[in-house]
Amino acid sequence: MAKTIQAIRGMNDCLPTQSPLWHKLENAVKNVVSVYGYSEVRMPIVEMTQLFSRAIGEVTDVVEKEMYTFEDRNGDSLTLRPEGTAGCVRAGIEHGLLYNQEQRLWYMGPMFRHERPQKGRYRQFTQCGVEVFGLNGPDVDAELIMMTARLWRELGIDKHVRLELNSIGSLQARADYREALVGFLEQHIDVLDEDCKRRMHTNPLRVLDTKNAEIQAILGDAPKLSDYLDEESKQHFQGLCELLDSVGIEYSVNQRLVRGLDYYNRTVFEWITESLGAQGTICGGGRYDGLVEQLGGKSTPAVGFAMGLERLVLMLETLELDSVRRGVDVYVVTAGEGTLLAGMKLAEALREEVPGLRVMSHFGGGNFKKQFKRADKVGAAVALVLGEDEVSEGTVVLKDLIGGTQNTYPQAQIVTKLAELV
Ligand code: HAM
Repeated sequence: MAKTIQAIRGMNDCLPTQSPLWHKLENAVKNVVSVYGYSEVRMPIVEMTQLFSRAIGEVTDVVEKEMYTFEDRNGDSLTLRPEGTAGCVRAGIEHGLLYNQEQRLWYMGPMFRHERPQKGRYRQFTQCGVEVFGLNGPDVDAELIMMTARLWRELGIDKHVRLELNSIGSLQARADYREALVGFLEQHIDVLDEDCKRRMHTNPLRVLDTKNAEIQAILGDAPKLSDYLDEESKQHFQGLCELLDSVGIEYSVNQRLVRGLDYYNRTVFEWITESLGAQGTICGGGRYDGLVEQLGGKSTPAVGFAMGLERLVLMLETLELDSVRRGVDVYVVTAGEGTLLAGMKLAEALREEVPGLRVMSHFGGGNFKKQFKRADKVGAAVALVLGEDEVSEGTVVLKDLIGGTQNTYPQAQIVTKLAELV
């Protein structure tokens, strides 16, 4: 036998047993973005490498070590998108959607990062992102958070997530803070590990989220970003906190929350769960008022977030909230001359008359016993049985596969019986 070929590590198949839960989640997400009036945008999965290095930042983990970058046959450097914001901004500028306009957009699809795979962290994963352009008040930041909170309620996971919030201020405020922080880190250089030493000069704010406990301990005395915030950013943040308070959304302000992508300013937030272990961030986002201009458009305020759907699926499974309508409703069993065609016609008529009813026809022959076994295997609630007598009399036997009862009905009456299953 030939050697089998396996999927790439960290890139998973979604199997038929798993897809109903994915559909449930995707539908819930689409429903929530749509009730806020947002529109879908679909971008290519591959973009010019430069787009990501410019948008996300040369010295971020994503750009430095996680991108799937390759040369195509023309010699252009291309990259499988590691996230959606950069492509969304690129598309907005390219199609003239952003200048002097307001856009409320969402997208869903695969993203790629060459990270070390573990539970909740994959090399191909699915994000649903939301991006708003042209609005600079804290009201829209609050709406995005309310939108995610609504989704958690609809999925039933709202008691298992918490919101962390921070403001990282203007670019100038960050530059001032960065200088103070580097000064502080230099005084403690002997405690820093290699990673932090490297980051100290390239991206010192990232030292704040080190996992090294010894370094975390000294960071308690480090200068605080909040002391460097510009007045406008402070007011924006206060406005957001007041809005969240008045709609009853709980949060905690985490001064160390800086996010791993460089384009943010002012508001940053993350939704975190304890139920997944190490990869507990299910959603992250914030403002990026400078990015449109940085990518060649006119200065446009912007804010957004993205959530990882694999992590939400894992959460639904862990919390046993993964009940879905699996399999089919009706399995059509036939035996005898001319019954297969009669069965297929009946199935077709039922699909027509009972919208949403899932009807599967048995193919491949075999006795009733074998066919009922198949019906059980595909999870059907009822079997419709057509033998030669039923076909000639215009009747059908309805067998309840859960309760076990069995009755004969005229075919014309079967629609009302089956409508109850949907
Ligand atoms: P991010 O924090 O890099 O932000 O990713 C957002 C979410 O995607 C994470 O919270 C996580 O749930 C999921 N995620 C990230 N990496 C992985 C992975 N390797 N495996 C599984 N899930 C993952 C962004 O991507 C920004 N573009 C969000 C944003 C939109 N900010 C403004 N607009």
